[in-house]
Amino acid sequence: MGSIPSRPIKEGEDRLLVNKIKDGTVIDHIPAGKALTVLRILGADKPRGNRVAVVMNAESRKMGRKDIVKLEGIYPHREDLDKIALIAPEATINIIKDYTVKEKRRASIPKEINGILKCINPTCITRQEREHVKPRFKTISVEPLLIQCIYCSSLIRLRDIESLLIK
Ligand code: CTP
Ligand code: ZN
Repeated sequence: MGSIPSRPIKEGEDRLLVNKIKDGTVIDHIPAGKALTVLRILGADKPRGNRVAVVMNAESRKMGRKDIVKLEGIYPHREDLDKIALIAPEATINIIKDYTVKEKRRASIPKEINGILKCINPTCITRQEREHVKPRFKTISVEPLLIQCIYCSSLIRLRDIESLLIK
């Protein structure tokens, strides 16, 4: 990852800072400051030998500032991409093949959320280390976002999500 630029990057200028990729996935229109969380959700924060580029605080006409994540040679699964909708509902997922955008998708809130959030209830079975029960939630409502622990029925709202993301 490069150093943090000292001035905002103008739209179109980001390709001077970070090249177009040949094959892989570009996640664009991420709210500024959320790029590293996106990488964490995709497990792309752990080195796998792929080139990963992160642009933070790029200028965007639509969003003011935005982050962009470029994953060379990685095509995340639909279920993993959908988890991104929890923290970056406006994100655009561009599938790149041979330097061309082949597909543009939006992340959508998954029906079930596994593996990225812990339950809000400290006494939930999923929070007891010796029980080895992985947290699982089902989506009750998308707008406003409301998800429910399948074990203890605790309800989790959008504002709780950030603090419950598993590190
Ligand atoms: N991109 C890339 N490598 C490529 C092609 C595109 O890194 N070979 C990046 C672009 O820099 C941009 C994103 O993928 O950040 C989407 O590309 P494109 O659809 O060409 O850009 P826009 O039309 O600006 O996208 P949108 O309409 O979604 O804002
Ligand atoms: Zn629970």
